Amino acid sequence: MSAQEIENKVKILMAQMTLEEKVGQMTQVDFTVIGVPKEQNAEDQIDPVKLEDAVVKHHVGSILNTTFTPDNKAQSIDTWRKMTSTVQDAAAKTRLKIPVIYGIDAIHGATYTQNSVLFPQAINMAATFNADLAFKEGEITAREVRASGLQWNFSTVMDIGRQPLWPRLWETFGEDVHLATVMGTSYIKGHQGDDFSAVNKAPTCLKHYVGYSYPLNGKDRTPAWIGERALREYFLPTFAAGINAGSPTVMVNSAEVDGIPGHANHHYLTTILRGELGFKGFTVSDWEDIKRLYTRDKMAASEKEAVKIAVMAGIDMSMVPFDFSFYDLLIELVKTGEVPLSRIDEAVSRILTVKYQAGLFEPKPLLDIAENFATAEAIATNRQAARESIVLAKNDHNILPLKKDANILVTGPTANLLSALNGGWTITWQGAAEHLYPQEKLTVLAAIQNKAGGKVTFVGGESFDAKIDLQKVVEEAKNHDVILLSLGEQPYTETVGNIESLNLGQAQVDLAQAALATGKPVILLTLGGRPRIITQISELASGVILGFLPGMEGGEAIADILFGDYNPNGKLPISYPRNTNGIVPYDYKPIESFEINTYNPLYPFGHGLSYTTFETSGLKVEKDKVKLGENVIVTVTIKNTGTITGKEAVLVYINDVAASVTRPNKQLKAFKKVELNPGQSQALSFTLTPHDLSFIGVDLKRIVEPGDFKVLVGNETVGFTVIK
Ligand code: BGC
Repeated sequence: MSAQEIENKVKILMAQMTLEEKVGQMTQVDFTVIGVPKEQNAEDQIDPVKLEDAVVKHHVGSILNTTFTPDNKAQSIDTWRKMTSTVQDAAAKTRLKIPVIYGIDAIHGATYTQNSVLFPQAINMAATFNADLAFKEGEITAREVRASGLQWNFSTVMDIGRQPLWPRLWETFGEDVHLATVMGTSYIKGHQGDDFSAVNKAPTCLKHYVGYSYPLNGKDRTPAWIGERALREYFLPTFAAGINAGSPTVMVNSAEVDGIPGHANHHYLTTILRGELGFKGFTVSDWEDIKRLYTRDKMAASEKEAVKIAVMAGIDMSMVPFDFSFYDLLIELVKTGEVPLSRIDEAVSRILTVKYQAGLFEPKPLLDIAENFATAEAIATNRQAARESIVLAKNDHNILPLKKDANILVTGPTANLLSALNGGWTITWQGAAEHLYPQEKLTVLAAIQNKAGGKVTFVGGESFDAKIDLQKVVEEAKNHDVILLSLGEQPYTETVGNIESLNLGQAQVDLAQAALATGKPVILLTLGGRPRIITQISELASGVILGFLPGMEGGEAIADILFGDYNPNGKLPISYPRNTNGIVPYDYKPIESFEINTYNPLYPFGHGLSYTTFETSGLKVEKDKVKLGENVIVTVTIKNTGTITGKEAVLVYINDVAASVTRPNKQLKAFKKVELNPGQSQALSFTLTPHDLSFIGVDLKRIVEPGDFKVLVGNETVGFTVIK
């Protein structure tokens, strides 16, 4: 349907709608509102009376989440198809037959559909520096979401991960704006295609607009102090790019920036989002966050006032999520004239437009499961993504790859858990329900056992917290050539994952010390969503692999790398801190490396080793003087100088030598990943646009200032000058 046709249809529909029907469209409820009580453990999980109350009586426009019966966990694809069609049948019984849009957190694949393809989490996808993989993840996820009868994905996270304590760091594409922009928009394009009404495509949701990811104290849902220049420089660009890539929905920051809760911020939600970024879709609140303007933030004196503030600030849909309070209160507010009907009409027409764009008014038969769900090809893509997402950080004396017949002692709390590979938003919200994971997938231990020709012994427990017998580790070490020490974190999502320190727990430190004291070479593997401090362990370990959350094929991917069946090429999308307070991003300001200050991470942004070696050379800019507004062409040659085939991402940074606002020492502006045989080289060309040279000036507007710039690639630097 053309934009014009949709506009006409929306107008015709709106003209027939009552106030109640309109406000219902703005209401989103959780599955529990239509579900049978948890205790009943019923076969049919939707309560028809409750469903009718929500959809027919309260006209709700959207439902989210999975069933809480018997647990809030993944359902079979058949159950989902049945449940979502029951919901649409109820919508078809309403006077105007407006379909419900069913939303789900398909964060690294279809989280809540059993046996879906669950990719590496976003922090890992960023480490691949491979936009094509993000695109494919988007395609596969959309297909599996739609095959489940679901219609809207609360992904992708466009927050920038510059606060490593934050328990949602792993949901981001890391600390760099350019990398996150490329990976996020590639995902969106794969997920939506050119037309997300297609039966294998679905709308995405940019979240959490804006500034959510940078809490001052590192805890989820606590205040960020971000000035408007920093907001525009670091936090808005990914959202702007996501909007340009066509994402039609935006979820709002659940916390606050500079004293104003995300859900009350008219300046962000309306002036900037609509006025500047030109967003035409609809905004949805985050979980219960309109109520919380009253219950938590004390910004409103009543829940009713909270509804008024949020709707007037620019929220179009409320994730209420457990009742109809938003619906009741908003109707009252319109009736008393406190919220103008025009604001309701604006919100509802945006929601209906997206429903038309998503093809919900003309439903097509669902995708064939066998051809579209968990296909062998999708699983192979997932394994490739996992392989490219793993960072080899240290490899002393080429301890890796291991010989196939090496005798390996495997120990550590994350070695034998699928949950430790996947993290949150896996089968359940928290991702920690190990017993629900698919039996056929391999943990790190199982994957090593599968491949190894030598002896593999495991000293560890059944769960993350199980006590590991240190004496046994020491004893067993004597009979093995090498120790694989698998440390890290157990899964968590959101506030549940708040921590006080990036230090590892004492039990893990003790285990590491015991392993290192044996004198056998130790390969440290870390799994988890945040860079926990491993400085001392890494110094004594012979090899270090940073696995983060490589997803369902992560165990196999790690074993592929350990034994050299795959040549690693992941690169860090964050700076890995040396100490718990050593939190300095790679694009630090000059003052952060002045006098005694230094950028001194354990491993810098972009770090990642290979089993071969690469060299870049011949870095050039096409012209050493460019006019304001012109592009800059950069060329460089990359060569595989080692003995095996490998992939390498070439990263192009710039530095604005002197400017009226302090500029980062360097900032990533382009990258390309290539695969080269031993001895092979390839010439690469990059185009830097005026936007790449720009920054947010003194008056908060984006500008390019004439003057000198540097381009940095590998060990080389070249300069050019921007002239008027
Ligand atoms: C999270 C969102 C998520 C929503 C719906 C919230 O608590 O912050 O990221 O999309 O729940 O599950």
